[in-house]
Amino acid sequence: MNFELNETQLMIRDTARKFAQEELAASADERDEKEEFPRDAVQKMGELGFMGMMVSEQYGGAGLDTVSYVLAVEEISKVDASAGVIMSVNNSLVTWGLETYGTEDQKKRYLHDLASGKKLGAFALSEPEAGSDATNQRTTAKKQGDSFILNGTKNFITNGANADIVLVMASTERSKGAKGVSAFIVEKGIPGFSVAKKEKKLGIRSSDTVSLSFEDCRIPAGNLIKEEGFGIKFALKTLDGGRIGIAAQALGIAQASLDASISYSKQRKAFDHPIADFQAVQFKIADMSTEIEAARLLTLRAAVLKDRGERFGPAAAMAKLYASKVAVASALEAIQIHGGYGYIREYKVERFLRDSKITEIYEGTSEIQRIVISRELLQ
Ligand code: CAA
Repeated sequence: MNFELNETQLMIRDTARKFAQEELAASADERDEKEEFPRDAVQKMGELGFMGMMVSEQYGGAGLDTVSYVLAVEEISKVDASAGVIMSVNNSLVTWGLETYGTEDQKKRYLHDLASGKKLGAFALSEPEAGSDATNQRTTAKKQGDSFILNGTKNFITNGANADIVLVMASTERSKGAKGVSAFIVEKGIPGFSVAKKEKKLGIRSSDTVSLSFEDCRIPAGNLIKEEGFGIKFALKTLDGGRIGIAAQALGIAQASLDASISYSKQRKAFDHPIADFQAVQFKIADMSTEIEAARLLTLRAAVLKDRGERFGPAAAMAKLYASKVAVASALEAIQIHGGYGYIREYKVERFLRDSKITEIYEGTSEIQRIVISRELLQ
């Protein structure tokens, strides 16, 4: 067992930290307030290689490992969790899925632009009646000659309004249930594809979350991923990796909550002492730090298993389950340490709490993670 990061991993972590401070920190609160998408920052993340971190260099990616990816998502989410999820979806749900399961032609056509930040990707699995129950797909794709005709609505789609390329799961044969779901690469701008409702959210407000509508969209058969009926396996396998990204996002929020608490408790005085002198505060900080370190180890373990080519789904579920819980708990404690100042917008910890909650919900709720973990143990 080796707990040391290698030189490349350390360099990636430092580059992400610097980027987040220089490009995201000053504008994160305002973008949260205005629900403004960080378009320029996404472009710059692409230029730095952060939008296709695990994509091979031959397809225009950075060719890095999952550990590096975790470090970068954590650093970016420490400053701006919205930028963290935009990046995470593009990396682990879109480019990873495409490179792992796409044809050579699909990889050549789409990966360069997605990895360089010229184009943005989204992943469309959820529907009004298919959230946790992901196999219950109502969107249909009917084969017609050399095409599939796509009809339906997807909702809660991260990056949906800004995405150029969307991986869409749809039922090609409803009578087959989960085995009748297929995955397609859908380009924005094709007739019948429109962005519908934009959601107003509690947190991660500068990332966009929308419904997508498909009305008789003609998708070339060449945009089918792998084969008909592979869609649910594609989505769930891809989500296994996505959950590592969300665990890293949760870690970033938790660490930011701890950092803010340490800094505030050294400055704020009560009863003629900095509040850091009081055990009530010291113990909170000790517990936060211990839990964050445990969440980090679980997340890095899942990343290492994935990098070694070993089975990593249950480990990713454990990492997301625990890191998201720690993110919410850390943000709550940070508010408590800040007292009244923690409750107002001027201090960032109230944003950390709002941003943290979604990590227990998207890419599989905590209840779904427990299903994945317990099935592994009880099979
Ligand atoms: N990898 C590959 N295949 C998998 C898999 C995995 N991790 N997990 C299950 N499968 C396969 C199963 O083997 C099965 O195939 P076979 O019948 O051929 O064996 C098929 O998928 C269906 O699996 P189940 O029978 O286990 O299906 P289920 O209905 O019991 O549910 C579930 C499984 C774990 C609950 C799953 O539906 C699930 O994870 N749900 C949550 C979905 C989710 O995470 N949604 C998030 C939306 S995306 C998002 O949030 C992105 C964003 O924008 C930020």
